[in-house]
Amino acid sequence: MTSVLFVCLGNICRSPTAEAVFRARSANLGIAIDSAGTGAWHAGEGPDPRSRAEGERRGYSFEGQTARKVTVQDFYDFDFILAMDASNLSDLRDLRPNDSQANLSLFLPDGSDVPDPYYGGPEGFSRVVDLIEFASDFWLAQMTV
Ligand code: 4NP
Repeated sequence: MTSVLFVCLGNICRSPTAEAVFRARSANLGIAIDSAGTGAWHAGEGPDPRSRAEGERRGYSFEGQTARKVTVQDFYDFDFILAMDASNLSDLRDLRPNDSQANLSLFLPDGSDVPDPYYGGPEGFSRVVDLIEFASDFWLAQMTV
């Protein structure tokens, strides 16, 4: 079974949104999906209410999501580890064991960042969902060929 882990900094805004969108779009394909943060500040918390509100407004479910920090074991458990920005990718490269087979990549296919919406206004949260919907379709196509 294909498995994918979405990673951002706090695991309360971008990667939970990616988890929710990807779960909806890959329904019935049997892909295992999770998300994690490179930082542990919000571990144990649910998704940020602003991300949750914008995602739910667009029909996505955040049910059952709890923030956690990425682990070394994740590099053995997941086929794809997709980072929301270049800083997340750099942190993941530092953590990655040499014998990991995971496909570690930026999430946006053009190599740009999903901007961190945490300290900004509502338009940032809306833009995050737009970008994640676009990139999810790209990765789904990669995983289902
Ligand atoms: P995320 O956003 O990485 O998309 O979950 C953030 C959440 C929390 C913080 C930064 C970014 N923070 O600094 O606490």
